[in-house]
Amino acid sequence: MLRESVDGLKWLAETQSDAMVLTSSGTGAMEAAISNTISPGDRVLSLVCGVFSERWAKLASAFGAEVERLKVEPGKAVTAEQVRAHLEKSTTKFHAVTITHNETSTGVLNDVQQIGQAVRQHGALSIVDAVTSFGATELPIDKWQLDVVVSGSQKALMLPPGLGVIFFGPKAWEAKSKCKTHSFYFDLNKYKKSLQEDTTPFTPNVSLIAGLQASIKMMKEEGKEAIFARHLRMRESLRSGLRAMGLELFVNDDCASPSITSILPPADLSVDKIRKTLKDRYRIIVADGQEELKGKIFRIGHMGYVFDRDILMTLASLEAALTELGHDCRANEAVKAAAALLSSTSR
Ligand SMILES: Cc1ncc(COP(=O)(O)O)c(C=O)c1O
Repeated sequence: MLRESVDGLKWLAETQSDAMVLTSSGTGAMEAAISNTISPGDRVLSLVCGVFSERWAKLASAFGAEVERLKVEPGKAVTAEQVRAHLEKSTTKFHAVTITHNETSTGVLNDVQQIGQAVRQHGALSIVDAVTSFGATELPIDKWQLDVVVSGSQKALMLPPGLGVIFFGPKAWEAKSKCKTHSFYFDLNKYKKSLQEDTTPFTPNVSLIAGLQASIKMMKEEGKEAIFARHLRMRESLRSGLRAMGLELFVNDDCASPSITSILPPADLSVDKIRKTLKDRYRIIVADGQEELKGKIFRIGHMGYVFDRDILMTLASLEAALTELGHDCRANEAVKAAAALLSSTSR
């Protein structure tokens, strides 16, 4: 089961890098990334555009790194030009740059391909959080020459929470050989060695590995390109429906996430009221904003096992909820707009 799962993950990431499955949540895989590559005193640049990208900075600091942040306002993407300029003006080299591919707290997709190139030219390791992008959008690790990429089971891999995934490339192994930090549970040398015997160094989450084997099989049947195209269709139809309803989207089209969409509530309604009505009336759970965005946006997740019907049902329920709350949301326009888009694009 493990062998098939690991091979499947490598297929999805188009990589020859080592892929390892950890019994942990996504943050555990993030911790494995840092604790195998970063020594105390190493300079790390963290690209921060929300809660999860800030987590990298906190994690690297916890392991003694000297962390610098390149921060953009929430709802915006970090651009490769900003990264390049920051790296060029730095007098001493950075050992690593942390990047969050899909910033789930805002709904922004960062251009990891271009950013990765800037990081490589600087000579630093690229350490990428792909928790909510892996399996939802393309992430060809070898083509984009990324060194460390992490993900988790409970997002586009369509499983319950409990597995972390880490891809570790040649430059990352080289960094590990010189790394002065030692984690016992997350020591990737142990995972690599055990994998040669199709096992793990510690008791694995067996049921989830069985699940991963099954979800990889489903993904192979659907096909990578079809999965990524479906996520784009979900994004486009949802955004089109939300706009038709008169709602304002938090993120511009050019960096909108294929797996989660953030929406500003109408001026006359609170996020709490919208979320509560959707949950109580229609059993649909949408997320609040996090930290500084709490109460300012709500977020609809559309990653993994999500299809046309889910988008239409969510839009229809949101329209009904807003109408019930006394907001004029041009009822029926959203579903019409989304349905028009869904029926005009191929599956
Ligand atoms: C982008 C991103 N990174 C990291 C995490 C943390 O993953 P976990 O909650 O599995 O530890 C999440 C969780 O939502 C996430 O969306």
